[in-house]
Amino acid sequence: MQIVSIARPELEQALRAPERLREYCGKLEAGDILFFPETPISITSDALGFLLGHQQVGGAYHKNIAYRPLEDRITGFDAQNGPAAERLRGIMRRYSSDVVAFLREFLGPYQARWKVDYASYRPEEEQTRDLALRKRNDLLHTDAFPTRPTHGDRILRFFNNINPSRTRNWITTDTFDVLVNKMNEGKLDGGRVPLPSSLQPSSIKQTLAGLGFGRLAPSLKRSPYDEFMMRFHNYLKENSSFQENCPKQHWEFPPGSSWMVYTDMVSHAVLSGQFALEQTLIVSKDAMVRPEKSPYGVLSRMATAV
Ligand SMILES: [Fe+2]
Repeated sequence: MQIVSIARPELEQALRAPERLREYCGKLEAGDILFFPETPISITSDALGFLLGHQQVGGAYHKNIAYRPLEDRITGFDAQNGPAAERLRGIMRRYSSDVVAFLREFLGPYQARWKVDYASYRPEEEQTRDLALRKRNDLLHTDAFPTRPTHGDRILRFFNNINPSRTRNWITTDTFDVLVNKMNEGKLDGGRVPLPSSLQPSSIKQTLAGLGFGRLAPSLKRSPYDEFMMRFHNYLKENSSFQENCPKQHWEFPPGSSWMVYTDMVSHAVLSGQFALEQTLIVSKDAMVRPEKSPYGVLSRMATAV
C-alpha cells in the first residue's frame, strides 16, 4: 500500500475525467490512502473556532462525538441541549453533507451505492487516551463494527485534520488480504481466527435475529463475514507480538489536509493528534471496481478453499 497524494489541480482535472476517478477507486480498494494536501471540504473559521473550543466528550462510554446524519442527532457531547449543542449539530450536519457531496462526485463510479453512516468529531489527544484494549486507537487493526454488521459492504472513512498546528500521526502495516493470509499460514504469532466455512448466514441465526433476539445478542445478527471481521479486529489488537514486530509505515497528515481510506482493508492505528473530523460511508460491495481485493472477495476465496 502507498499514499496517493492528490493536489488541487490534479483533483480538478480528475473530476472531469471519469476514467481517472475509476483509477482512484481501484487504488482505494487495493488499500492505498488517498491524500489531499489541501482539503476539498470548506470549513469556515467560525466553525473551526467553535470546534477547537469545545472538546469535551461525555462520559467514558463515548470514544468521540458522533453525528448521525439520518436522525440529525449528536451523541457523546456533554451538553445535549442548548445553544452549544445546537451549534455543534449544525456544524456536523454541514460537514457531513459537504463530504458526501464531494464523494458523490469524486467517487462517481460508485454511483452513490452506499449508506451514509456516522460522522464524528475527535477532539481528544490520541496519545494520552485511556481506553479499553479493544477500543484503543493506537493498536493496529482493521475496522469492524460490533453492532452494525455490513455483510461484506465496505467501511470507507474520510478524515480532516483540523488541528491548527499539529499533524495527525498514523501507522499502517500490511493490508487485510496479506494479513489474513499470513495468519492462515501461521506466520502471525498468537494463533489464528478460524476462517468461515461459508459466507452465507446460517438459517438458524437468521430466524433468531428475525424473531428479535438479535437485539439482545448482537452476534446473532452478525453474518459469518461480520463475525470473522470482528474477531480478526480483536485478534490483531490482542496480539502483542504482532503489534511489536510487524513492519510499519508512518504517516503524518498535516493541518488542513484530508485523507480517505477503506479501514476494513488498511490496518491502521493513530499514535497522536488532536482535533479531527471524519465521515463514514458503508459502500455496497457490489459497487467495487476491484471486488476481488475486498475482504469479502478474499474471504469468499479462502472459505471455499477450506
Ligand atoms: Fe479504526
